[in-house]
Amino acid sequence: MPPVTGLKTVLSKIHGYGVVTTRKYLAGEILLYGDGVLWQESDDFDDTYALALPSYETAVNGVEGPNVYWDLTCQGRWINHSCNPNTEVDCHWEPNSKNPIAWWFAKRDIAAGEELTYDYAFSAALAEPCFCSEQNCRGVIADDEELHLVPEKYKHLIKESFRFRRQ
Ligand SMILES: C[S@@+](CC[C@H](N)C(=O)[O-])C[C@H]1O[C@@H](n2cnc3c(N)ncnc32)[C@H](O)[C@@H]1O
Ligand SMILES: [Zn+2]
Repeated sequence: MPPVTGLKTVLSKIHGYGVVTTRKYLAGEILLYGDGVLWQESDDFDDTYALALPSYETAVNGVEGPNVYWDLTCQGRWINHSCNPNTEVDCHWEPNSKNPIAWWFAKRDIAAGEELTYDYAFSAALAEPCFCSEQNCRGVIADDEELHLVPEKYKHLIKESFRFRRQ
């Protein structure tokens, strides 16, 4: 898949490869539409590059179904996590094909050369150490509502200000 105009995949200061901008973006601007292969929670697949999406049922009927996983094949595959992200992902479902349409948009103005990030908000069981280096870094890549459920081996990484918020 050709690189998206305005974005470049590079070696990241956060982790491995990452995506930076080659021009300025304004708050609200769409940076990238996603593409990928859909997997169900019960499938055996590599979730390293998968974006968790609310199910078609959740999006269309408001009846919460299990998340589905979109194994990204687009440049979004390389976008790292930050606890103070500059983008967010939004998703709609195409009613006829029942395929997701998802896009990254700027949460604030983004300067040329900035690395793109979004909040992975992993469930606690999937938590990993976070190297985003932001002032409000949680210490782990995990949903801030689930920090109290993070596995014992990573509990010590959770920054003081996020500890004991919930029991
Ligand atoms: C979708 S990949 C992102 C691309 C990744 N940098 C690479 O080169 O493969 C997601 C994985 O990157 C790593 N990662 C992303 N953001 C991170 C962060 N803020 N701190 C530490 N690792 C991060 C984690 O291992 C995570 O499971
Ligand atoms: Zn962080």
